[in-house]
Amino acid sequence: MQVVRNIADLRQAVANLRISDAPVAMVPTMGALHAGHIALVDAARARGAQVVASIFVNPTQFAPNEDLDAYPRREAADVALLEAAGAALLWAPDVAAMYPAGFATTVSVDGISERWDGAARPGHFAGVATVVSKLLLQVRPDIALFGEKDYQQLAVIRRMVADLDLGIEIVGVPTQRDDDGLAFSSRNAYLSPEERTAALALPRALGDARAAIERGDEVAGSLAAAITRLAKAGFDPIDYVALVDAETLEPVESLDRPARLLAAARIGRTRLIDNLAVGG
Ligand code: PAJ
Repeated sequence: MQVVRNIADLRQAVANLRISDAPVAMVPTMGALHAGHIALVDAARARGAQVVASIFVNPTQFAPNEDLDAYPRREAADVALLEAAGAALLWAPDVAAMYPAGFATTVSVDGISERWDGAARPGHFAGVATVVSKLLLQVRPDIALFGEKDYQQLAVIRRMVADLDLGIEIVGVPTQRDDDGLAFSSRNAYLSPEERTAALALPRALGDARAAIERGDEVAGSLAAAITRLAKAGFDPIDYVALVDAETLEPVESLDRPARLLAAARIGRTRLIDNLAVGG
């Protein structure tokens, strides 16, 4: 696997991949790779694609009070994982390559960005949309893969790619979980052993709320029960637990269409998010 760090080398390396007829797939990441990221590479390979992964801890999607400096960085281990998964190319620019002096353009997606994580993390989705549009324009893949783990992010990226006519197929990949049900996340590395155990309340509260809603219990009461359970497990603050329309992400009060349960909450200093499909 070739590792490239500047735009000129990237363009040349992608041109070399294009000599083959196989489609080019992109898997953008912030590194500290785990089985969730590798599932995206596997899904791309299963489509017969040559995989361009990227690792860039994007400063513009972190608020000043967030964990940019603490975010785990372990490129050597990441390279080994990507190589073993069969990625063809790693694009690993530094901040100066991505945001040279004078950089002044922001991509922001109205509507779908505004609730949930958009409200809890002002500016976050503009940072994501800006860096993902740059990554997609730099590599110009045929397809790009993103995890359902970050469900609102996936919806924002779908909207952006459609609105800007980027002509890239966006593929969502199901959330990969540890054996006990906790979704893999680079941020799980921050959890103490006690917090790691307590964090299981998140997938369990969502699973129970889904079961309750699917058997016809009242939505508001089911969400309130999930919030109580998270609070008892030590989550504080709980940013949201919501049942939303699976496409628009607007809140829904009954299960009359495909829906998604979304949650975000902090345990200790670690903010975790998770979501589940509900009804269909
Ligand atoms: P990061 O958190 O590194 O995630 C990179 C990709 O891996 C995203 O598409 C994310 O949804 C997916 N992913 C993470 N955990 C997963 C899991 N447990 N199962 C399935 N997929 C999972 O998301 C970002 O980086 C950034 O915002 C990025 C899109 C790279 C823009 O900077």
